[in-house]
Amino acid sequence: MAPVSIVVVGAGQRGAGYARWVRRHPDRASVVAVAEPRQVPRARLAAEHGITAGNVAADWRELAGRGRLADAVLICTQDRMHAEPAEAFAALGYHILLEKPGRAPLRVSSFGRPTYFTAANRPPGAADRCVACPVEASCPYSAPRLYRGLLEAGEHRWPPSVVIDDFTPAALDEALASGPYGQPLVPLLGVLAPQRVGVHGGHHMVPSCHGIRH
Ligand SMILES: NC(=O)c1ccc[n+]([C@@H]2O[C@H](COP(=O)([O-])OP(=O)(O)OC[C@H]3O[C@@H](n4cnc5c(N)ncnc54)[C@H](O)[C@@H]3O)[C@@H](O)[C@H]2O)c1
Repeated sequence: MAPVSIVVVGAGQRGAGYARWVRRHPDRASVVAVAEPRQVPRARLAAEHGITAGNVAADWRELAGRGRLADAVLICTQDRMHAEPAEAFAALGYHILLEKPGRAPLRVSSFGRPTYFTAANRPPGAADRCVACPVEASCPYSAPRLYRGLLEAGEHRWPPSVVIDDFTPAALDEALASGPYGQPLVPLLGVLAPQRVGVHGGHHMVPSCHGIRH
């Protein structure tokens, strides 16, 4: 059977993960187009699969506007951005793999009533950023410890791949100092709705809790 040609919509964790599988199985499938707004993962995936410039787009709508480019589409955008592309690509006759909404419901039920990660349990003197926090060294949920350790171990996939595109200590320091993953969970939970806590706080498998994404 000829390899199945595939469009990847969303080159995030899932999209990039499926694409890696495809690269290992060229007899089964090939990625021929990608839509992804973030430049680095878009360019990386396009280069790894030798995708022609005309089949690389920042938004799925651009690819959908070009008619049917492949046998199948992998829709790997985030949950709330599933329905529209699914309808558009279905109308074009694509076979569709629609990435499921993850484990969000489980997490919502797990964390809907946070009993530990509350403002009341915030350690005395804790700062609003791990890198500036006087109790970071003794905190079991230290983002710098987690991510620096993974970087030193040479891990370039999840979870560091969510925080940085450039796998250098300087890029990580910058991300922890200014990005969403350098914020400790405990103070944030006090202002987040339970549902959001469930979905986002769970992103990094709490109790590794530095997963607030916007
Ligand atoms: N990561 C996991 O472990 C996991 C597990 C099970 C299910 N899921 C599900 O998979 C889906 C994707 O999750 P993820 O973790 O890969 O998220 P992600 O945020 O890493 O990836 C989503 C990607 O979609 C891209 N995107 C946003 N708007 C777009 C647009 N208009 N056109 C094209 N791309 C666009 C984003 O830039 C991002 O790279 C979600 O439904 C999630 O619930 C994820």
